[in-house]
Amino acid sequence: MNVLLIGSGGREHALAWKIAQSPQIGKLLCVPGNTGTAHHGQNVPFPLDDFAALIDLAQREAIDLVVVGPEQPLADGIADRFAAAGIPVFGPSAEAARLESSKAYAKEIMAEARVPTAAAHVFATAAAAADFVRSSGAAWVVKADGLAQGKGVVVPDSVEETLAAIAQLSGDLPGQQLLLEERLIGREVSVLALCDGRRLVALPPARDHKRLGDGDVGPNTGGMGVVAPVDDVTPGQLDQIVSSCLQPAIDAMAARGTPFHGVLYAGIMLTETGPKVLEYNARFGDPEAQALLPLIEGDLLEALYGCATGNLQPEKLRRRKGYAVCVVLCAAGYPERPRKGDAIRGVEAVDDNKVLIFHAGTALGATGLCTAGGRVIGVTGLGGTLRQARERAYESAAGIRFEGKHHRMDIGKEPTP
Ligand SMILES: Nc1ncnc2c1ncn2[C@@H]1O[C@H](COP(=O)(O)OP(=O)(O)O)[C@@H](O)[C@H]1O
Ligand SMILES: [Mg+2]
Repeated sequence: MNVLLIGSGGREHALAWKIAQSPQIGKLLCVPGNTGTAHHGQNVPFPLDDFAALIDLAQREAIDLVVVGPEQPLADGIADRFAAAGIPVFGPSAEAARLESSKAYAKEIMAEARVPTAAAHVFATAAAAADFVRSSGAAWVVKADGLAQGKGVVVPDSVEETLAAIAQLSGDLPGQQLLLEERLIGREVSVLALCDGRRLVALPPARDHKRLGDGDVGPNTGGMGVVAPVDDVTPGQLDQIVSSCLQPAIDAMAARGTPFHGVLYAGIMLTETGPKVLEYNARFGDPEAQALLPLIEGDLLEALYGCATGNLQPEKLRRRKGYAVCVVLCAAGYPERPRKGDAIRGVEAVDDNKVLIFHAGTALGATGLCTAGGRVIGVTGLGGTLRQARERAYESAAGIRFEGKHHRMDIGKEPTP
């Protein structure tokens, strides 16, 4: 099977690594790929927004399956275009991807599917949202409707902060609808599932760490680390999350005639009254994929193809015993102004089957490997216990050196923060 993989982050390196292990893999083309994906396939430098040229490439290379990593091309309809050309795609149509690209739409589907979630009100203008907040006399979680790369949500503590958040978000993301949401209290967990339009297979529950600093303080980032599975979600709770938060949304999308093919990612708050959905994403998280894919046993490529073609066989995927801890090594200045071009050493040295190195922002320059983005490398440690997985990740992380390297020290610390 010839595969075209779209994207260039740590997530795509993890996907390439796992897909390349399939006995069915033929050619693996990565567009544009990165230093890591080049170990498993062939990188093709190509703009992601030129869908016609991408389809041309896929036809020329006899591609059997397109796997889409990031959200933007999905929201832009890349899956629709490939599907129209008769090429199976792992990744939802633009309409199904609205579960992520429009938080108002996701709320509509959740209401239709009776998925437990925070009560929310949608406003077309900042003025209308502000009026509502003043007359409610309460604080609300403020969300911009559309894709915002993690910068579209504020969780204020007072009416004044809520009004400031409305002004800020409407200034940063002009023209978007705004959502005011009831604030939920609890611990967060992410449950990702592979979906074929009707059926799904849930991956182990994961917890990401978006804040820059230990103990979840400091500015938001793209993600500093992930632990999976998380022990505060029991197998019974996971089943409950699947049956109350994921399957009904899949059923609702199918009933609407816009079935969801790909990864449905539910951000969940474990509240006193049960799990509630904070948001959906329509693709693998990054770095979540770097912790979750190593925990899958079985042929991922076969499963992705099954999802694309409506023929997922859930019994064929098994969950590997044990834990994965992914620690993201960041460049100097990340997240505000990441510096590029620092030489990276020590990557070759760490290579056993208990630790995986996923490239995110690296480049191969004239003098060797160097930093080329904010999140440089993800180090995933595997182990029979959480502690073992964490120790392996941190040991290897210490051996990778570049000027200005920084990372969180508390990923996977018990109890998970
Ligand atoms: N209703 C809510 N109550 C409490 N916290 C929330 C709520 N909605 C979102 N949050 C917090 O804000 C974070 C980001 O919100 P989310 O909906 O996941 O948007 P995005 O990932 O697109 O930024 C969540 O991980 C959670 O910590
Ligand atoms: Mg989120």
